[in-house]
Amino acid sequence: MCTGVRLLSLSCLLALLLIIPLPESSAEFSESSVGISPDKAAHYIHAVIKANRTIYSQYLVDRLNEAVGLNATENWEQDKTLPLPVQFLLMSAEQVRSQEVGLDYKLMSLWPINENNGPATEIERDGLLSVMGNPDEPFNWIVKEGKRVLFNAIYSDRAVAKRCVSCHNAHAKSPNKNFKVGDVMGGILVQFPVARVAGPDDAEARYQVLPEVLADYIHAILEADRTIYTKHVVQRLETEKVSYASENWWENNCLLLPAQFLLNASDLVQSLRLGFDYRLISLWPVNPHNGAANEFERYGLESVAESPRKPYSGTTWVGRRPYFQAVYPDQAIASTCVSCHNAHPRSPKHNFKLNEVMGGIVVSIPLGQEVDLLALPGLDKNSDD
Ligand code: HEC
Ligand code: HEC
Repeated sequence: MCTGVRLLSLSCLLALLLIIPLPESSAEFSESSVGISPDKAAHYIHAVIKANRTIYSQYLVDRLNEAVGLNATENWEQDKTLPLPVQFLLMSAEQVRSQEVGLDYKLMSLWPINENNGPATEIERDGLLSVMGNPDEPFNWIVKEGKRVLFNAIYSDRAVAKRCVSCHNAHAKSPNKNFKVGDVMGGILVQFPVARVAGPDDAEARYQVLPEVLADYIHAILEADRTIYTKHVVQRLETEKVSYASENWWENNCLLLPAQFLLNASDLVQSLRLGFDYRLISLWPVNPHNGAANEFERYGLESVAESPRKPYSGTTWVGRRPYFQAVYPDQAIASTCVSCHNAHPRSPKHNFKLNEVMGGIVVSIPLGQEVDLLALPGLDKNSDD
């Protein structure tokens, strides 16, 4: 066993991630508005996409290739392999688009293997050039489309795993054969509609995203990646007897549980200290740590178990800071969800059925600045805190 070495390489990978920070948001909230600035919203959305992409590339594609020779290939269904990281992202974007929440994203490069992944417009090309030169700074712009105003942001896409580099450099159709680990290989374009705010100075239009809309975007990505991972990776590879999901995925050289995929990505997002977070919770948790943390979460779980069509949401306070929180239902979308939980010795419930609500995803978004509760009655609007 070389667990020590493997753990070391894990911490190195994590360290690598930590030294590629997201830039601080420059925009501030207006004191009167409840909305989130578009560039901050884009940071949150990108952080979720990137965390899932990183977990998939490092803990699945890289690790299983090295440990058991399980590859990621373009024809993953026929080959009984893992989908490519780009295919994982594109399937997820496709599912998010089908939800019609307004959010869209894609992967692009100035050296695309597939020419459809090249920049579609001049401004996309400019954006890719900009993040190549300045990888920690996203490139943002606004487009007016009829009545809709769309905010666009391109973030650099780095070679976060060894296989990114070895596969692209060896690919016959790759126009660049010299990628190195850590290089910017392309960009992720994130696009969503924004609403105009009438500010004190109307001459300069400002835009915002409502917190409930941003929570919907974040949840849509989480649900899409969770569905694709469960159906196209875990359930398929289990049926084909290629691999299986286990709590001890690291020692057993197998697949992470769907919950571990989500929770590991959530840890990565937390390490960026952007302020927002998300968790997977349940009224019947296998791991007591995933139980409802407070009354709000308990009501939320009860509410979505009864009416899964809409999230349970509200404003909560953590100390002096208000948060928008929303609990979304987490359903048994595949038979493997049900069979594993029902058979698990630590599960408090053994009669889950397919499509039943098994728990919830809770998304928390910080609102505005800290508020001095004691000073609320005579709130000084000119506070520059
Ligand atoms: C096993 C091979 C393989 C691995 C591993 C892989 N890629 Fe790719 N990548 C591809 C192929 C093939 C495409 C084109 C897919 C298509 O037809 O859309 C692609 C597409 C892309 C694109 C869109 C532009 C283009 O080249 O078409 C980017 C950006 C990209 N990959 C970056 C990465 C990064 C970053 C990683 C690691 C996180 C990675 N790739 C891992 C094979 C791979
Ligand atoms: C192979 C077993 C397995 C599969 C498959 C599986 N789970 Fe889990 N799930 C677990 C375990 C074990 C935990 C506890 C993980 C931890 O320690 O945090 C868990 C955690 C959860 C939680 C958080 C509450 C809790 O029980 O700790 C939810 C909700 C959940 N799973 C739902 C699902 C859904 C929905 C699916 C299918 C998309 C699924 N699970 C697939 C084993 C599994």
